[in-house]
Amino acid sequence: MDFKGRSFLKLLDYTPEEIEYLINLAMELKAKKKKGILHRECEGKNVALIFEKTSTRTRCSFEVACSDLGMSCTYLDPKGSQIGKKESIADTARVLGRIYDGIEYRGFGQEIVENLAKYAGVPVWNGLTNEFHPTQILADFMTIKEKFGTLKGVKLVYMGDARYNMGNSLMVGAAKMGMHFVACTNQKYFPSKDLVDECLKIAEKTGAKLEFITDPMVATLNADVIYTDVWVSMGEADEVWQERINDLKPYQVNMKVMNNAKDSCVFMHCLPAFHDLDTEIGREINRKYDLTAMEVTDEVFESERSIVFDEAENRMHTIKAVMLATLKGN
Ligand code: CP
Ligand code: NVA
Repeated sequence: MDFKGRSFLKLLDYTPEEIEYLINLAMELKAKKKKGILHRECEGKNVALIFEKTSTRTRCSFEVACSDLGMSCTYLDPKGSQIGKKESIADTARVLGRIYDGIEYRGFGQEIVENLAKYAGVPVWNGLTNEFHPTQILADFMTIKEKFGTLKGVKLVYMGDARYNMGNSLMVGAAKMGMHFVACTNQKYFPSKDLVDECLKIAEKTGAKLEFITDPMVATLNADVIYTDVWVSMGEADEVWQERINDLKPYQVNMKVMNNAKDSCVFMHCLPAFHDLDTEIGREINRKYDLTAMEVTDEVFESERSIVFDEAENRMHTIKAVMLATLKGN
């Protein structure tokens, strides 16, 4: 295993052993942090954080992880740089690669982050694209490992829009780690055939099981984890709400599906979540469509089965592991 100088763009580029290594490294870093043991192993390095979409968890995780590792970071917000408007990705990559030791990118198409990595000459980390959200999956799998002690054989049911960044990445991660992944959604929202075929090939080697089921009560039977995400993602047009609500309402995570799963089943969500009326968008949707919650009910979100805040904390530890491994090597 050799991590030094590598980018972290999607889980498809990493072996199961490498993914396991990063999760274990994150667990070690978490233990160190809890004990107050300093780990400024990247002292003197500098990192650029490019965000073309908004963020709370990912940005804060990168910033705190940089500080804990002894690095500085520069945050470039969705409007505050020349990227894409006055300067191409290739030129931006070559400029930032001369100044920084690593670059995080959150934005739109996966090809943008791949292009950035091609030209930067330093590690590039994917902080979310339309297609993939790989640092989120490391945090999710670390949280599952903390809860169940293993990933192998764990049945994870993803309900909702399974053909966007979260559904895609969870399927890839589950295939790599030998898990039982179920996409439970309306026929229109299953991952693309190409990605499914690629994951089925991986699953043949790892023993993973992948299923695509439209009936929530069939899909969630014996589930260890029920996972969901927003029905409309960042960057999508407001016009899609009506159709999305109609299509995905039957896939809301509620107590009926939680009680259909194992007694030990946990609820997970990458966040942010629409589970009540305490958000602007939540209230607007309530006015237009009379829904008090969307992808998950408040009852499930606030229940003891919900481990969403453990997941959110683990974003920081896993992002730190990715930066440490790719900047310093293993
Ligand atoms: N889960 C996640 O990526 O959250 P942010 O959009 O707040 O970074
Ligand atoms: N699918 C969501 C994930 C947010 C972390 C989005 O892209 O907005």
